[in-house]
Amino acid sequence: MNPRNPTTRCTKTWKEVKRVLVPGGIACVNIGDATRTKDGVFHLYPNHSRVIESFEQLGLVTLPYVLWKKPTTKPRYKGKGAFLGSGFLPPNAYVTLDMEYILIFRKGNLRSFEPKDPKRYRSKFTKKERDEWFSQVWTVTGARQTHGGLERRVGAFPDEIPRRLIRMFSIEGDLVLDPFLGSGTSLKAAMDLNRRFVGYEKLEDFSRIIRERMGQESGRVLFQKQSVVEQISSALTV
Ligand SMILES: C[S@@+](CC[C@H](N)C(=O)[O-])C[C@H]1O[C@@H](n2cnc3c(N)ncnc32)[C@H](O)[C@@H]1O
Repeated sequence: MNPRNPTTRCTKTWKEVKRVLVPGGIACVNIGDATRTKDGVFHLYPNHSRVIESFEQLGLVTLPYVLWKKPTTKPRYKGKGAFLGSGFLPPNAYVTLDMEYILIFRKGNLRSFEPKDPKRYRSKFTKKERDEWFSQVWTVTGARQTHGGLERRVGAFPDEIPRRLIRMFSIEGDLVLDPFLGSGTSLKAAMDLNRRFVGYEKLEDFSRIIRERMGQESGRVLFQKQSVVEQISSALTV
């Protein structure tokens, strides 16, 4: 995703997400801000606020978001580790971006259920889960990448993130959509949690990685090669 303009490039995707969500359905977007120095001038790209603006323009309700703290990075000075020379001297070092946002949006009003809906009751979380998951800062260690460069390039995330989100915002039997499938972390989580799943990925190499990740269960996944036009029209039938 272009750190300077993630929203323009994704607006069509967000529109489709809105269209296929059920009334009261929830969309979650994991995004980090970015910094770049261009022509000697430092810029902060507040990607999260642009995504919020996009969803607001589409008429979704913005809910309080999660800050995912990745326990790793050191403070930085001019783009390098700060533990060098004048990194210890004020005032020229800057704060490290070591949080990502998990933005949460709802389509319309609260989703409604039949009283005592058994699938909903089977999907409930414990008090410990509720206290931890519904607090604003999550400290979850980054994913261990088992498939080398490709996963690292696209930034695979740890299972724990989609697992929590799927359990927080869907019930058993629901259909989960990931329009940026990558190595299929959300796909695996959704299937383990008895949800149905559909996803899109533009890099074909990931189908092999997903098959490996699913192991014996890969037979449950139907892979289809589609043109962009087909992708959009097939999403219409979701
Ligand atoms: C950070 S990864 C997503 C991780 C993933 N959600 C998971 O559960 O592991 C983003 C993925 O989106 C894919 N992508 C980017 N633009 C896309 C597009 N227009 N259509 C489909 N996939 C796209 C990239 O190739 C990359 O694999």
